[in-house]
Amino acid sequence: MNNSDAKVIKTGVKIVIQSGVLKHIQTSIVLSVNTLVMELHDLRKNYGKDAIPEEYLPADPFDWFGDWLRHALLVTVHEANAMVLSTVSGNGQPSSRIVLLKQFDENGFLFFTNYESRKGIQLSSNPAAALLFFWPELERQVRIEGIIIKADAAVSDEYFLSRPMESQVSAVVSPQSQVIPTHKYLVQMHREFSSSHSEGKFSRPENWGGYLLSPHLFEFWQGRSNRLHDRILFELINQEWKRCRLAP
Ligand SMILES: Cc1cc2nc3c(=O)[nH]c(=O)nc-3n(C[C@H](O)[C@H](O)[C@H](O)COP(=O)(O)O)c2cc1C
Repeated sequence: MNNSDAKVIKTGVKIVIQSGVLKHIQTSIVLSVNTLVMELHDLRKNYGKDAIPEEYLPADPFDWFGDWLRHALLVTVHEANAMVLSTVSGNGQPSSRIVLLKQFDENGFLFFTNYESRKGIQLSSNPAAALLFFWPELERQVRIEGIIIKADAAVSDEYFLSRPMESQVSAVVSPQSQVIPTHKYLVQMHREFSSSHSEGKFSRPENWGGYLLSPHLFEFWQGRSNRLHDRILFELINQEWKRCRLAP
């Protein structure tokens, strides 16, 4: 690669163009840790896009969540259905990762994964979990806490079969969260499985399927000016959703 094609466009950002094509963006090459910390300190955003008025407080958190998710999809928030899933190991160590919400209703929030992954192992010893949605374009956050159970096998089968064949094969061959030697190894496994099942006849592996989080807590957060944000909490108490406002 010809170094003369590399340009520093601003402090800490280098772009590399090869034959007129953007090849690479490298950030923080010039920034020292101290400069970065200073820049983070100085990042300050004022919120104020929307408000949750006192007179409009839905009684049902599922309806409210549906409204906000629809809104996020409408304004094309990037990956609006991406959510942080936090689980806790048997010895109390929390861990978080993104998964995609595939369905929700009063029964819960559905996502799909490998049951033998790190999250799967944690959930088998501790079903308590939390979900977090962040929709920056709307200055909104939703926190959800509850208990996770495995989805019905029929639900998992249906979703598995609805996925593109390549994704189905990936779910079969990837031992999620296990150590593997190289990416090439994974590609090889994918290729071998695909060619030995070229007619596409294989079923969902038992270690892959849906989980359903049944919530007992929601918190809706809307950014407001001067850090006086809205926070509306719903808690399920004796089968009824109780609502209150929290200080930001
Ligand atoms: C945008 C995005 C969407 C993802 N969606 C899923 C998903 O739906 N299911 C899944 O198992 N992993 C998904 N992942 C990968 C997970 O974040 C994670 O790497 C993987 O599930 C292994 O996590 P674990 O080792 O904690 O079990 C997604 C990652 C990103 C960045």
